[in-house]
Amino acid sequence: MSRTTKLVALTAAASLTLGLAACASERDPGTSPTTAGGGATTTAGGGEAGGLIGIAMPTRSLERWNNDGKHLDELLKKAGYETSLQYADNKVDQQISQIETMVNSGAKVLVVASIDGEALGNALEAAAAKGIKVIAYDRLINGTEAVDYYATFDNYKVGTLQGEFVKEQLKLDSEAGPFTLEPFAGSPDDNNAKFFFSGAWDVLLPFVESGKLVVPSGKSPKTNDDWKSIGIQGWETAKAQSEMDNRLNANYQDKKVDVVLSPNDSLALGIEQSLESNGYKPGADWPLVTGQDADKANVINMLADKQAMTVWKDTRTLGDQVALMVDQIVKGQTVEVNDTETYDNGKKVVPSFLLAPQVVTKDTVKSALVESGFYKASDLGL
Ligand code: BGC
Repeated sequence: MSRTTKLVALTAAASLTLGLAACASERDPGTSPTTAGGGATTTAGGGEAGGLIGIAMPTRSLERWNNDGKHLDELLKKAGYETSLQYADNKVDQQISQIETMVNSGAKVLVVASIDGEALGNALEAAAAKGIKVIAYDRLINGTEAVDYYATFDNYKVGTLQGEFVKEQLKLDSEAGPFTLEPFAGSPDDNNAKFFFSGAWDVLLPFVESGKLVVPSGKSPKTNDDWKSIGIQGWETAKAQSEMDNRLNANYQDKKVDVVLSPNDSLALGIEQSLESNGYKPGADWPLVTGQDADKANVINMLADKQAMTVWKDTRTLGDQVALMVDQIVKGQTVEVNDTETYDNGKKVVPSFLLAPQVVTKDTVKSALVESGFYKASDLGL
């Protein structure tokens, strides 16, 4: 990690600790609503830290959600809260009943990383009726007024970083091409997936239209709005693998794929397994594959030249921000947001806090992921 990065990380950590400590000493009664910079208001009961906070996470099957849940849980406990941390095995009904239990147990705030962004309206409206505040975590919750805040990484930017990476690596502005591309998109029920795809497609579609990029499978959305046609339900590795197998078998008997646009690491992993079993060799004809999350298996694949990049979202900073927001809500303080325009859930524009994602490649694994303490060198075989 560069000196500056280290400094930024240390400053962020210190300001969270100080922030929570400052909050703890202010004891703002918070009985009247306060207006945040972006126009957000809080009307929580206010007062002291403490009470139950519900944390609803989608699944343990993906590494990132385990890290997210654990980190937020630890921070809230340290700040004096009780927590209920639940995982729902990617099952919508299970997540709804977990939220209902949290509501009935008297939670003050719910932090929800939804499975299906459209399915939680009733459960959250019951929470709102009891004065419980809701923070949508990482994924926006749609179609209901009963979501108070949203904290996430800049999802459109994630896609832009993937698209720009492909454009730069292939030198699309100057090289003649054509290059073969296979694009994938995330789960159709995840609101983030649309933003990831749009960010990448806004960069790449002009090259598809000009013929510099060709998509032999024909699975090439004409517009951003068609992204669901190439979405992989549940972000499942095995589904991405069989989709890639199908595309290779049907369209690549006499050619090679040059680039695979994968929106995240769980899909990239399946795509990489497919490439492997179809005889592609790293360092020889292996295509450029994108990803997101810096999952351990994918970072190891990057070191083995099977994945060109990942978009890293340091989920510790998201947890830090959400812990701060919870604390601000409970104490009736102004809740910090930095975007009040982008995330319209169909019923309201949800005041949001957006964090910055960053590209990691083989060359920056050590400086970005190891020196920041996200992984130990030994986790990655370094
Ligand atoms: C998250 C990604 C994750 C994906 C699959 C998205 O909502 O933002 O980080 O890779 O879900 O779990």
